[in-house]
Amino acid sequence: MIIAIDGPAAAGKGTLARRLAKELGLPYLDTGLLYRAVGRRVLDAGVDPADPAAAEAQAKALHPDDLARTDLRGPAADQAASQVASVPGVRAALLAFQRNFATTGGAVLDGRDIGTVIFPDADVKLFVTASVEARAERRWREHQAASLESVTEDLRRRDAMDAARAAAPLRPADDAVLLDTTAMDPNQAFAAALLAVKAQNSE
Ligand code: DC
Repeated sequence: MIIAIDGPAAAGKGTLARRLAKELGLPYLDTGLLYRAVGRRVLDAGVDPADPAAAEAQAKALHPDDLARTDLRGPAADQAASQVASVPGVRAALLAFQRNFATTGGAVLDGRDIGTVIFPDADVKLFVTASVEARAERRWREHQAASLESVTEDLRRRDAMDAARAAAPLRPADDAVLLDTTAMDPNQAFAAALLAVKAQNSE
């Protein structure tokens, strides 16, 4: 079974995807980490994350060890990931890794384009979202490294970049189930997601 979970930043996709994977005994892949690791490599190389050729070269050189780095979160990594994710050559370089991950034993994958591009025939597709205010507040509670206002602004900027890019923009697949978690706690979101998985998988 392949379960595709897409949605904007800080919507709770990762928590949900991890819990679903555990519940269903499936491997889990956080595909955002791939883009984060490429962004990090670009920053380390001292090249501009907005330079498509430099970003593509780093995506092609990505090594599985890069995904275990401890500096893939935080504002600089967020920003670099968002920039490299808009480069078609980067997305192409990461496609096979994502498909191979799931083809043997199935998987739960979360990202932005799993249901639209990576696995358009996934057995289950969820689009998990929440208001920008709710997402900013959750992110801010986790870190509190910056003000709530700047976290909100950062999310708005990343939402706009992810949705406006020409290559695999963030959007729900036509056959995705929408899950708005604005008024849900993590347990309620998990219960709703599990119901949606069972309903879609029995179709
Ligand atoms: O989910 P995240 O915040 O870790 O994602 C980091 C960046 O990578 C974000 O700007 C969107 C991008 N991304 C993407 O374009 N496609 C994916 N499948 C996953 C993430």
